[in-house]
Amino acid sequence: MAQVLVLNGPNLNLLGTREPGVYGTTTLAAIEKAVRNLARRLRCEVRFLQCNGEGELVEALHDAMGWADAVVLNPAAYGHTSVALRDAISGIRLPVVEVHLSNIHAREPFRRHSLTAEVAVGLISGFGADSYLLGLQAALAYLAQHPPRSREAGGVRRRRSESQ
Ligand code: DQA
Repeated sequence: MAQVLVLNGPNLNLLGTREPGVYGTTTLAAIEKAVRNLARRLRCEVRFLQCNGEGELVEALHDAMGWADAVVLNPAAYGHTSVALRDAISGIRLPVVEVHLSNIHAREPFRRHSLTAEVAVGLISGFGADSYLLGLQAALAYLAQHPPRSREAGGVRRRRSESQ
């Protein structure tokens, strides 16, 4: 069963009341519930996490190397600014699907560039809470075409339990 980390960046804990005209009124808890329902239907396991700190997000990505097959990441504002997050994505060598609720290309110029999307396997942006559901489906489709085992054969990574 595929294991996926769904990781959320700063201020996404405020969803529901934060700029509802841009992000809607769906809370992060409601998004988590929808993601978990879809994961159950698609028979995968998800861990859902939100951190406001850049370092915490980097740590969560490092930790994912030990157990996850893929990551669905909403880096929030750090996607536009964080070299550390970008380097973490490159470093863990897990497929990362970047998601945004809003269409970052239809907003202010400073949001139109994502440092992290450049090292992700793909980007889904603009579908509100559905961006997460599409992101999970994209991550699973990617894994079906690039099974973890074949990536391991190339020396990419090994599960902790398998490396003992
Ligand atoms: C966001 C878009 C970012 O530009 C912004 O900083 C966020 C949310 C989105 O999901 O639309 O915090 O990642």
